[in-house]
Amino acid sequence: MEGSKETGSHVYVLETGDCGAARLQMQDEIYGASTRQMMLDAGLCAGMRVLDLACGTGIMSHWISQQVGPTGTVVGGDISRDQLAYASAQGSHGEGSRPPEFIEVNAYDTGLPAASFDMVHCRLLLCHLERPADALREIHRLLKPGGVLVCQDLELSTLFSRPASKAYEQSVALGHAMGKMLGVNYDFGTQLHSAVMQAGFVSPTVRFVQPVHMRGLGKDWWHQTFEEVTPVMIRLGLGTQDEISVLLGELKKLALDEQVLLAQARMPAVSAVKAMRVDS
Ligand SMILES: C[S@@+](CC[C@H](N)C(=O)[O-])C[C@H]1O[C@@H](n2cnc3c(N)ncnc32)[C@H](O)[C@@H]1O
Repeated sequence: MEGSKETGSHVYVLETGDCGAARLQMQDEIYGASTRQMMLDAGLCAGMRVLDLACGTGIMSHWISQQVGPTGTVVGGDISRDQLAYASAQGSHGEGSRPPEFIEVNAYDTGLPAASFDMVHCRLLLCHLERPADALREIHRLLKPGGVLVCQDLELSTLFSRPASKAYEQSVALGHAMGKMLGVNYDFGTQLHSAVMQAGFVSPTVRFVQPVHMRGLGKDWWHQTFEEVTPVMIRLGLGTQDEISVLLGELKKLALDEQVLLAQARMPAVSAVKAMRVDS
């Protein structure tokens, strides 16, 4: 297993549970408004049954449970028990709405009944999978006819700074090299719309989301993410501790420098529908 602790996946290398919660929270502060708007625009409403697949620490699951209200239900599924334990311990569901049910699932084969959800939300999972197309097919199976998928994924290559900086360029190149060695694609966002269509979905809507920062905590997100995967990079032989520490120092300096603009990685978001009649 590449990760330093139990993650449930041999290719998911970020921290889980308490150790990764602050980074996921920061990620939601950067991208979350667009995720929520996409879900609302895709028809999220009271009474729905929704799956938050790869729910992580449950940030979106709890928000979705407020939207579907007491007549709706939310299932948060993740492969990591640490994530699920953290998610279950959060009590932020709105008054009157039911808390999400958190369950251990593998996105490739959830074991959940076919055609049992009105909507599936899936953010930043597919770039961590060796077989994202298989997970998309599983999501398609889980949706009712007419049900909607809302997913967002990463295009790591699009992260840049102005003025351009070698440190960001090097860290992105190292991220790609690590993904290649793990058999995953941190640029999967570039293919998201076509992969969704190939999985059988119709009527896609696509948005590009690329927040930019001159200052503020969110500007440190990439540095923190990179720091989390440092032990894996060293184990994979992508750099020595000293080399990566120097790079981390430079990333931190750039994050604190209010003269430097950082464009976070673009995250394409796609919503698409499972056709009412599916020809086999
Ligand atoms: C980057 S986190 C995103 C969490 C959440 N979707 C969010 O946006 O806050 C990716 C999540 O995918 C989960 N994961 C990785 N491989 C998985 C798999 N095969 N099946 C289900 N979950 C998986 C990880 O445990 C992790 O919680």
